[in-house]
Parts: sequence; structure tokens; C-alpha cells
Amino acid sequence: MSEPFFFTWSKQRGTTGVEMVGGEGCFFDTADGARWLDLGSLVYSANLGHGHPRMIAAIKAQADRLCLSMPKSVFPEKRALAERLLALAGKGFTKVFFTLGGSEANENAIKMARLATGRFKVLSRYRSYHGATMGALSLSGDYRRPPLEPALVGAIKALDCYCDRCPFGQSLASCARECATHVDDVLRMEANVAAVFLEPVPGANGVLVPPEEYWPLVRAACDQHGTLLVADEVLTGFGRTGNWFAHQRWGVTPDMITLSKGLTGGYGVLGAVLVHERVASRFEDETLLAGLTQYAHPLGVAAALEAMAIYEEEGLIDNAEKLSGPFAAGLAALREAHACVRFSRSLGLLGALELDLDDAGFNKLGAALKDRHVHAFLRPTDRALILAPPLCIDEAILADGFARVGAAIAEAS
Ligand SMILES: Cc1ncc(COP(=O)(O)O)c(C=O)c1O
Repeated sequence: MSEPFFFTWSKQRGTTGVEMVGGEGCFFDTADGARWLDLGSLVYSANLGHGHPRMIAAIKAQADRLCLSMPKSVFPEKRALAERLLALAGKGFTKVFFTLGGSEANENAIKMARLATGRFKVLSRYRSYHGATMGALSLSGDYRRPPLEPALVGAIKALDCYCDRCPFGQSLASCARECATHVDDVLRMEANVAAVFLEPVPGANGVLVPPEEYWPLVRAACDQHGTLLVADEVLTGFGRTGNWFAHQRWGVTPDMITLSKGLTGGYGVLGAVLVHERVASRFEDETLLAGLTQYAHPLGVAAALEAMAIYEEEGLIDNAEKLSGPFAAGLAALREAHACVRFSRSLGLLGALELDLDDAGFNKLGAALKDRHVHAFLRPTDRALILAPPLCIDEAILADGFARVGAAIAEAS
């Protein structure tokens, strides 16, 4: 049936939607009576799982308390959330800028970087996704950008740390971290770059886990060239990789952190930019030329505040870290069992399989996953299957998931 609204990122003809009617934990239910295993956390967002009673109650209570606001409104939940997020980001982070989602978080980080440095160029990587709005899309390296160019003037790109297919022809065992020195080279040759935007682990572009030294080396290069470093944690934030924020694993302090998705666990509409004092202080006496009508909407704020409490009280971040090993082992077992699986990669509960399948095989894999009621991401351009289950998953559900995925791969290959 043709719908009276657009489906995103799709040819409209032939695209059908998913009529979700509810869910619980790692599963969601559809109108046809099926129960799906959600190995994608919807769109990498449902970190807390489905149908969480506390989230629903918190949003209802906020609707009763205060449901309308304007950008300059002050209310206790807004202050409490900002304080909580700054504490999570660590020493030196002093201000939060709220948005409605991840693209706008990056959009506003570009603006702050430009205003704070007086420079206009922004560097990101080819295998990256930073959002659908024009500024964020200009940062994005993947197939979604070129048809919509011209991009933002000054949006420049670097090659990736893609260890399984190293663009510098190296192997992880013997390389000199050329991916990081390349960023340093580009910053030097381009000169006057305002900011480098990096996903700690590029997610939708294939879960490219960087070598341990990459982030510290890029931080040093940024410092050397007077360039700001922005961690796009929209997908990796809030436990996805086993830390509150993925970059914290490498002991690096970025200048800004952009957030959304897990910020509300998908229950609310909210994004944020966490800003280090180094940048925030610029706007004490200079006008911050940024704002949104629905800045810090109370329902989104209440959802995020409750989400923070649930992550902590239910130990979800620790669970992601604890299951990191079994998750990686399950992916590796699929690689060993199926000749068409070339590579497996993961960090925390974010993983990918790269498959040697032609178009027909890849389409067959999509159908086979659907038949088994498994929700996950298939990236035809990279022939990747990406898995990112809710952080409340346990070993038994994980094993069920890998069994279903294995059967689907067997059917497709
Ligand atoms: C790393 C990253 N940044 C930004 C975005 C854009 O976020 P939104 O779709 O909320 O605008 C996404 C969305 O997938 C993302 O994965």
C-alpha cells in the first residue's frame, strides 16, 4: 500500500513500512502478530530496550508537570540533565547545547567550531555518517553525500582507519598508524582547519574499530595545528561500546561531544553538544549565534534524565562491556562457519560482518533475516551486516540471535 508520507532514504515505490505496536526488552511486536528480535536497537537508539515502564512513566509525569517551553526557559530537569551530562563527559566540560537530534548536534558543533576558531574548514573521514542536514551531510563521507553536493565550503576529507582493508596497504601488526599521521598531514597541508569530526567507531559505515593509538595521535595532531576535536558519539554514546562514551576508552578529551539516539534510548526527541570550557568560554562575551524553537523540549529532557538513571541503576553500560567478549566470539564463530563471511569486527555491543555475496545473495540474506524476524542493518555498498542489540540483552538472547543470523547466512550463501 502506498502511504501518504515519504519513507526515508528510499525509493518510495515498493517500500513498505514496519507497523510496530509494542515491545518488551530486546523484542518488538508488529501489527501482523510477529515478535521481532531487535538486533539493531531500532536505529542504534533503543539502548534501554523496548516498552520500558520507567521511561513511559517519566514522560507521562513530565507531560503533567510542564509540557511547553521556549528556548530561554529554565526548569529543574533541564538544569539537572545538563549537569549530569557534563559530569559524564568529565573534567573541563562546562556547557551543553541542546538540539532535536544528532544531525543538528553536529550542525551546531560546526557553527561553534567556526565561531570559536575564526576558521571555516572542517575535516572528517570518507567512511563516516554525521547526519542528513546539509552541514552534517557535508561532513559525512558515505554514498549519501555526493548526490546532494555541492557540500559546505571547506568540508574536507581524510582516509579511514579501516584495518581489515587498510587504505595505506599496511597490516595492524606492522603498521606505524599511518591513518593517524595522515590526519596530521592533511591538517598541515590544508592549514587553518577549524575542527576534526570523528565517530569514535564509525558505525553505519561498517564498525571500523581504530587502533588503540589512533585517538591519542589525532588529539596530538589537532593540538599541534590549533584544530578542535569533535567526538560524534551520536551512535556510540551511552554504552554502545561498553563505556558511557566510546572515546573515553582511549583516554582522550575532545573539545566537543555530540549526542542523540541513546541519550533518550529512542523514547524522546533530543540531541546535545557537550562543550569543553576551551570552546564554551568564547561565548561568555561573544554572541552564540545558534538556537532552535524546540531547544531542550521538556518531554525530551525528562526522557533523557530518566534514561541516565536507568543506564546506571540497571548496569546497562557494564552489561555491554561484560558481553563484549561473547558478542565478538559469536561474530567470529559466524565468520569461521560461513565461507562468505570475510571479516568480523566489534567493540562492546556494536559489531559487523563483511560478506562476500553478490546482489542476489545479499538480497536473499535480507529476506532470510526478515523470515526469521530479525531486525539488523544491511549495507549493500559495503556488503556489511551490522548488529547493535539493546544493552539489556543477555547471553541466551544473544545466542538465539546468532543462531538466527547464522541460519539466514547459510540460506543466502
Ligand atoms: C554517528 C552519527 N552521527 C549523526 C547521526 C545523525 O543523527 P540524527 O539522525 O538523529 O539526525 C547519526 C545517525 O545515524 C549517526 O549515526
